[in-house]
Amino acid sequence: MFVYFNNQFVKKKEVSISPDDRGFLFGDGVYEVVSCYKGRLFELEKHISRMEQSLYKTGIKKPDRLDFKYIAEGLIQKNDFSNKDALVYIQITRGVAPRKHAFPDADVRPTVYAFISPFDVPYKKCKNGVKIILVKDIRWTRCDIKSISLLPNVMFNQQAKDNGAEESVFVRDGYITEGSHTTVFAVYNGDLVTHPLNNYILPGITREVVFKLCNELKINIQESPVSEKELNKADEIMLVGTSVEIMPVIKVDDWAVGTAKPGHITKKLQNSFGKLIR
Ligand SMILES: Cc1ncc(COP(=O)(O)O)c(C=O)c1O
Repeated sequence: MFVYFNNQFVKKKEVSISPDDRGFLFGDGVYEVVSCYKGRLFELEKHISRMEQSLYKTGIKKPDRLDFKYIAEGLIQKNDFSNKDALVYIQITRGVAPRKHAFPDADVRPTVYAFISPFDVPYKKCKNGVKIILVKDIRWTRCDIKSISLLPNVMFNQQAKDNGAEESVFVRDGYITEGSHTTVFAVYNGDLVTHPLNNYILPGITREVVFKLCNELKINIQESPVSEKELNKADEIMLVGTSVEIMPVIKVDDWAVGTAKPGHITKKLQNSFGKLIR
C-alpha cells in the first residue's frame, strides 16, 4: 500500500514518524476525509477549502508544496482504486519539535500524511436505519475546526457501539449539535431542521450537499437548533457525513422515531444523493 508522507509517495511500512511530532504529543493537527467513488473524488474543492480554514484557524502553516488533488489522485492511481469506492484521509500536524506547549520556531515544517482505504459503503444501514444515543456535549467550543484531537468523539462513539447504536449525538445546553462523526438533520412537517453553522459544529460538506439537494427538491431548510425535548416529535431523523452518506435514524435511546422506518424525505434525499455520486 502506498501512502503519502512529507512530499513523497512511499510504501506504508517505510514511513517513520518522530515521537516528537506535535500530532503525537499534543494532538496538534488537522485532517480531512474525502470520499472517492470509482476513482472520482467527491466535492474535493470543498474539502480543500475546509482544510485551509482549519489550518488558518489553528495557525498551522500551510505546507509549501501541499496539493491535495495531486496527493489524492496519486493515492488512487498508485493503489489501484480507480474502479473502487474509497476514502482518502489527509492530516497535517504542526511538525516535529521539542515538547513545549507554545508553537515551535517558524522554520519547523508541518508533517503531512495521507492514505487511501476501501470505502465500505454502509448500504444496509442506509436502507434499514440505525439507532443513536444522546450524550452530553462535553467537547470544547471550537468544534468548527477539523482537529485530530478527537478523544471525546472516540469515547462517545465507543459508548454508542457498547449500546448497540451506530452513533452518539451530542446535546449542548439542551440542544442537539451533531454526532461524533456526522451531521444531524430532523424533519418536522416536511421541513429539514439542523444546527446553524457556528463554533459548536463542524461545517459538514455532506450537510452542504444536502442543502443543495433540498433546494432542487423544493424541501425547506431551517437552520435552527433542535431541542432535546422536541426531538421525539420529529417525523424523521437522519445522520449525514462522508462515511455514512445519508443514514436514517429509526431509534433514539429507547424510543422509536416516527414509524420506526426510514421516512420519505430521507429516502428522497438518498435517491438524489445516489444519482449525484454514482
Ligand atoms: C464532528 C463531525 N461532524 C460532522 C461530520 C460530517 O462532515 P462531512 O460531511 O464533511 O464528512 C464529521 C465528519 O467527519 C465530523 O467529524
